[in-house]
Amino acid sequence: MGSMQEFIPDAKMFCEISHDEQERLKKVHRKTLVKMWLFDMMINNFDRGGANWLISEDTIHAIDHSHSLRDDEYFGQDITCYTVGGENFFDEEPLPEFIESLGRFLATQEQQKILEDLLVELFNKAFVRKCIKRIKTVGSILVRDGKISHNKYSSGIAVE
Ligand SMILES: Nc1ncnc2c1ncn2[C@@H]1O[C@H](COP(=O)(O)OP(=O)(O)O)[C@@H](O)[C@H]1O
Ligand SMILES: [Mg+2]
Repeated sequence: MGSMQEFIPDAKMFCEISHDEQERLKKVHRKTLVKMWLFDMMINNFDRGGANWLISEDTIHAIDHSHSLRDDEYFGQDITCYTVGGENFFDEEPLPEFIESLGRFLATQEQQKILEDLLVELFNKAFVRKCIKRIKTVGSILVRDGKISHNKYSSGIAVE
């Protein structure tokens, strides 16, 4: 399935900036990187190499989700924690606002229904149920633990 998103004229691909700049900007945007790592987990995206996110002084932009939400035999099974630019973000806390919004999503049937209705426009119902399950699984861990623990989940997360 194709997708469209806003073109970001001033941002560079992470892989095209110097190593020193990479290290500096990774520190600046650390919390956003943790969020992108968690997002990729939810959508089963294994393709977050350095060409698939753009970075600037202000923020980072996730692009290229062509390897996400694949309706294959693995999607409904254990969640793999894929790397972002070759790095993992186990034991790192995203911004509290992110966890709070996940908490609200988990606690609100209405919000879950809105997402379900949007996804049903794109995918079959069985797959949509698997999508919601993945979000709920990762979300519940984050609401409970505040992070994805390396000790517990380095070999994957069982979908509940
Ligand atoms: N929204 C965007 N804003 C700016 N540049 C983009 C955007 N989307 C893609 N690009 C540029 O185009 C390249 C290829 O796009 P991408 O979606 O990664 O396709 P693919 O990797 O399948 O060729 C990216 O690596 C990036 O340089
Ligand atoms: Mg790409």
